[in-house]
Amino acid sequence: MPYTILAPYYDLLGWADFTDFLWPHIESFLSTFGEPEKLLDIACGTGVLAERLTALGIDYHGIDINADMIAVARRKKYSSAATFSLGDMRSFDLGAEYPVCGCFYDSINHITDETGVEAAFRQAYRHTSSGGFYLFDVNTIHGLSDWKPFHSFRKGKFYIKQYGEYDRKSRLGLYRVEAFVKNTAGRVIYIEQTLPERGYTVTFLKRSLAATGFRRILIKPFRRFETVAEAERLLFICRK
Ligand SMILES: C[S@@+](CC[C@H](N)C(=O)[O-])C[C@H]1O[C@@H](n2cnc3c(N)ncnc32)[C@H](O)[C@@H]1O
Repeated sequence: MPYTILAPYYDLLGWADFTDFLWPHIESFLSTFGEPEKLLDIACGTGVLAERLTALGIDYHGIDINADMIAVARRKKYSSAATFSLGDMRSFDLGAEYPVCGCFYDSINHITDETGVEAAFRQAYRHTSSGGFYLFDVNTIHGLSDWKPFHSFRKGKFYIKQYGEYDRKSRLGLYRVEAFVKNTAGRVIYIEQTLPERGYTVTFLKRSLAATGFRRILIKPFRRFETVAEAERLLFICRK
């Protein structure tokens, strides 16, 4: 399963840094609409966002499809309540509603068919309280088309190689990560993980969100100088 091999090294290899990039958008949202009492983070991964939100006193619930990612998240210390559950964003049912649901860092792109994305929107809607918000980001078709075929870098003690492949016709991409890391026994090992991503048009995403029942949909480019049409990554803020 995607992320199983990567899970113990996810934060160390630099994936946790995405939250630094996301955080100004979350802060801006919280300062505009106020801090919710509780928040559901769908596809929460290793709980990077939990560390920041629980520090604000927000009750945090994270769900993810990958048991290894959840295991890493559960091992961390949090300043206030953090709960983690195993679940598929297309079908989970916690039997609860949250004033804010989030889904970040390409997690929607990891669903590789439109029916799956529609199902994920339905489950998010179901778990959002009336008047509440669903926030998510996506890598755009433009962003995925610009993936570098090869990129290598060092992160602390680790050496990482990334290969990106994107097919414009099917809008399917494969992102391969290779790294040399130290395992728990202190031995240097080679790991490899391939992660699939699919690009979705803004028209499809907006239409599906509206069909699900979200009333207002605000779409923001992640970087200030980009337009929605040119952006590599977009943030969707939807109101139920
Ligand atoms: C790039 S990680 C993002 C994790 C976290 N949101 C973050 O910002 O670090 C993508 C996550 O999506 C999860 N994921 C992929 N498909 C999923 C699904 N159908 N349901 C729930 N989680 C899913 C993966 O297991 C992985 O943890």
